[in-house]
Amino acid sequence: MPLSSAPLSPATWPAFARLVEKHDGIFGGCWCISFHLEPGENKRWAGRYRELKEARVRAGRAHAALVFDGLEAVGWCQFGPTAELPNIRSRKEYEIGLGKLPDWRITCFFIDRERRGEGVASFALREAVRCIARAGGGTVEGYPEDYAGERTSNSFLCSGTLGMFEKAGFKKSRKIAMRRWVVTRRVPATRARARKKRSNG
Ligand SMILES: CC(C)(COP(=O)(O)OP(=O)(O)OC[C@H]1O[C@@H](n2cnc3c(N)ncnc32)[C@H](O)[C@@H]1OP(=O)(O)O)[C@@H](O)C(=O)NCCC(=O)NCCS
Repeated sequence: MPLSSAPLSPATWPAFARLVEKHDGIFGGCWCISFHLEPGENKRWAGRYRELKEARVRAGRAHAALVFDGLEAVGWCQFGPTAELPNIRSRKEYEIGLGKLPDWRITCFFIDRERRGEGVASFALREAVRCIARAGGGTVEGYPEDYAGERTSNSFLCSGTLGMFEKAGFKKSRKIAMRRWVVTRRVPATRARARKKRSNG
């Protein structure tokens, strides 16, 4: 069956939750919350990340392109407006060379353990970019790792690989850790959205 995608939303929450539960909460209970957390929030919400993630999804404050094979979710690419994802890795180094904050960030991927190596993450990235275009577009940053030609632990690659992002049209902007890059792309709004923006003045 060909892959399809849908945004993470209250309607797709059950499929997302099944995938996370299949992997024991991911890293013992992350629930893809770590990039959302403001300082101090991790202590306040410790052990209750499922509840926090669901509340954010219901409030429209957690975005992802969820990949489906039939009715089952097999992976996702997390993205969101910068304020929704303040907690990026190598943040100190990132802030040293920071000019203007981007409109959007792409922070995290997770693919079903049984479905890795099939291009699901690359598909999820393309779908996340489409979601951003439909939401009005703008500047987008990712923070992938450069392991070109080498294998590494899958869990080191939760922010994706440099190759994936370059294939999706992102350009290297600056290095913020030994293998970690800031990559950027300007994503235009989809035409219908651009027309709506113009007609609203
Ligand atoms: C890393 C991960 C997202 C890759 O997903 P995937 O669907 O297997 O990736 P794809 O098949 O689309 O491959 C994308 C690229 O990554 C490369 N890649 C994938 N796994 C790799 C690994 N372990 N080492 C090096 N490169 C790797 C592929 O070779 C491919 O490169 P190419 O574009 O140059 O051909 C997946 O293994 C995963 O979910 N890991 C766990 C991440 C995690 O812990 N997330 C939760 C954080 S809370």
